[in-house]
Amino acid sequence: MKKEYKIVLLEGDGIGPEMTAEVARLFDFLSEKQDVKFNYKIMPFGASSFFVTGSSFPLATQQACENADAIFKGPIGLSFEDTKEIPLEERPERGALLPLRKKLQTYANFRPVLLPAELSHFSPLKKEVVGNGIDLLMIRELVGGLYFGEKKRGVDSNGKRWVTEELNYTEDQIRNIQITALQAASQRRKKLCNIHKSNVLLSSIVWNEILEETAKDFPDVEVEHMLVDAAATALSLKPGSFDVMVMENMFGDILSDQAGGILGSLGLMPSACMGKTQAYYEPSHGSAPDIAGKGIANPYSSIASIAMMLRMSFNMPREADLVQKAILSVFASGVTTPDLGAFSNKQLKQVTTREFCDQMLANLAKELS
Ligand code: IPM
Ligand code: MG
Repeated sequence: MKKEYKIVLLEGDGIGPEMTAEVARLFDFLSEKQDVKFNYKIMPFGASSFFVTGSSFPLATQQACENADAIFKGPIGLSFEDTKEIPLEERPERGALLPLRKKLQTYANFRPVLLPAELSHFSPLKKEVVGNGIDLLMIRELVGGLYFGEKKRGVDSNGKRWVTEELNYTEDQIRNIQITALQAASQRRKKLCNIHKSNVLLSSIVWNEILEETAKDFPDVEVEHMLVDAAATALSLKPGSFDVMVMENMFGDILSDQAGGILGSLGLMPSACMGKTQAYYEPSHGSAPDIAGKGIANPYSSIASIAMMLRMSFNMPREADLVQKAILSVFASGVTTPDLGAFSNKQLKQVTTREFCDQMLANLAKELS
């Protein structure tokens, strides 16, 4: 009997449905060719869901997510202007994405920053800086910190506005993410770069104090400390010097986007959001409303997120490697989608999202046969 898995696909907004369609094709393909069956269903989520159901994260979607073996989440969000049509609390970031993270307690966000030879022509960095390529793993705390703290605004007696937002972390939240990162580092090059801002923030002082304790259980991992602002510079100047990086929520949000920049595009950044019992996988890029529906968006970030799912949720490292290899081979053959074409310094043949995935699946078929 084939092993069966329940997958929930959250299409999201903008280019989300196009990305999700390719993910679904990959699941169909794997179910047909491998000894496994992925039963997926698409559930409403994000701004598109709000306009249809009145909620950006409806109850039925919440229940389906709770019962899923793994979740793929497409990008969410609308343009700045269109977002104003949605009440603040239902906007996809606040009303859907953060509640999803909180509900599933996906506290560890893995964002691999990979620039192998097949992708090197997309990077804006000089050859000397990139060296043999980039292979680092950003691990971002995803359910605490400033993004989840209490937020208040008001007006003082002089009629001037004020605002406060809290940054909260418990010791257990800090320990959990640090242990996850130390484990990841001990399985890789045994180097952990701790990102902090202890020259200003008390939260970083406590974070660093706890790291001294958690690191004791990983004597094989060398821990280095770097201020977050200095890390932003170092990422651009010597990206090859990093292996695993660990950081709190907002630092990770910002530095991981910078990482997309040094690769050439956020379209080259997959990600995994891991909890103790549940996980969801998402491209790190946004919903790109300007190119939605045109079939020109690159599926790499979504497909590589599924490779992460196969590895991390379903213990299928062989299939994960083959999917990753199959999509990199498409790039290696001198092909791209138009959205990424502008970032490359090479003359590439431009194909649609669908054609790009056709080629990926053809490569995969060869590898699996
Ligand atoms: C990300 C995104 C989200 C975040 C937004 C959409 C709320 O930028 O996953 O990095 O800030 O976490
Ligand atoms: Mg972000």
